[in-house]
Order: sequence, then structure tokens, then C-alpha cells
Amino acid sequence: MRQLVPELIERYALDHSSPESAAMAALQQEAKESLSSPGMLSGPVVGRLLELLVWSTRAKLVLEIGTYAGYSALAMAAGLPDDGRIITCERSDEYAEFARRHIATSPYAHMVDLRVGPALETIQTLPGPFDFVFIDADKVSYRAYYEAVLNKLSPQGLIAVDNTLWSGRVLDERDPSADTRALAEFNDMLAHDERVGCVMLTVRDGVTLIRRRSALRE
Ligand SMILES: C[S@@+](CC[C@H](N)C(=O)[O-])C[C@H]1O[C@@H](n2cnc3c(N)ncnc32)[C@H](O)[C@@H]1O
Repeated sequence: MRQLVPELIERYALDHSSPESAAMAALQQEAKESLSSPGMLSGPVVGRLLELLVWSTRAKLVLEIGTYAGYSALAMAAGLPDDGRIITCERSDEYAEFARRHIATSPYAHMVDLRVGPALETIQTLPGPFDFVFIDADKVSYRAYYEAVLNKLSPQGLIAVDNTLWSGRVLDERDPSADTRALAEFNDMLAHDERVGCVMLTVRDGVTLIRRRSALRE
């Protein structure tokens, strides 16, 4: 992933956000040393953002699509009340096993329910309503994930979508990669979707926040 925010600014933002816990730093370090694609891990600034969003929306049920090492799941769990719950979906057994180990030794083990398998199939089995959804799995399926969760969102619910700037590649209309095209089309669709209101934040690799509009009021 190409860094969009200049390194010094990224470092300043990190230094002026609440510090990462020792356990989260250790998880990140171990992921770098032992898992493939450690750049997929969202990291401390996005982690703190997710934690604050979960906390401020008073979410009780969170859905995550794309667990990887469990970093963002644990970050969101920190924003939940003690009777809150997060269901996190991961298709890779290897990543799920890594995440499970770290979840088990965290203070949030009783709140995190990790489901292994294709996320779209898992979502079909979940009634919701979800107070907060974090979409962060395969980019070509973002539209499908969005459609699968939109009607399962609680009235005050939020969806956060990661990597919507995709290292800036979404600006390149000639970039032929399936991921880039899917993200660019998703972003274009979303900006004009009258069912929702959204804002794209230029945090890290782009994080888009979405809420459903009430058909009666707006
Ligand atoms: C970007 S990583 C998630 C990072 C994590 N949310 C974080 O911030 O630390 C994306 C993850 O989605 C998983 N994934 C990809 N396609 C999937 C699918 N169809 N169903 C479930 N998980 C999937 C990948 O195996 C990978 O672990």
C-alpha cells in the first residue's frame, strides 16, 4: 500500500492519538513477522478511529467483514460496552487461528465471535440489526457487502468502509485492476445513492462513513 498521507504527518497523527496498548503493539509486530500481507492490518490511527466511532454510536452489535489478524476487531471491541458483541468474518483458517489466539488473551474474548468462511454466506445467516459495520475484506465484493448489510443496519447505525482511496489508484481511470475498478465504481455509486448519506475521510488509505437516510424525514 502506497502511503497517501505524508509520513511525517502520519507520525504526528499517531503521536497525538491515544497510544496503542502493549498487547495491540505486540499483535501488530507478530503479524508483521509471521503473516503474509501485514500491510492489510489497519493500524493504530484507524483502530482508534473505529473504537471512537463504536463508542460514540453506543453500538452494541458490530459486524466486521475481514478479520485478518484481529487488530480492528479488538480495536472496535474496546469501544463496546461489556455486554456488547462483535461478529467478525474471515475466510482464511490461518488468519482466523492467529486472530483467535490474540482475541483469547485480550479483555474482550467474551465479546468477539469469529466466523470462518466466505463473509457473504455468513452475513446471510445473521439477522442484525447491526449498530456498526466495518467493511474491509476483498475489494471486488464491497458492493455486495454493502447491499447485504444496508437493510440490516439499525436506525442510528453506521457503516465504515476501509481502503476507499486505494493508494490513490481510484483516480486513475486507466488502472485495469479488478480491485481498483471495483473500488472506483463503489465510490461513484455511493456518492449518488439516495438511500444513504456518506463522507469519505482521507485517513490512511481512505475510510468512508455511511448512514442510512430515513425515507420519512429526508
Ligand atoms: C484488509 S484484511 C482485514 C484487516 C483487518 N480488518 C484489520 O484492519 O486489521 C482483509 C481480510 O479479509 C479476508 N477476506 C477476503 N475475502 C474474504 C471473504 N470473501 N470472506 C471473508 N473474509 C475474506 C482476507 O483473508 C483478509 O484477512
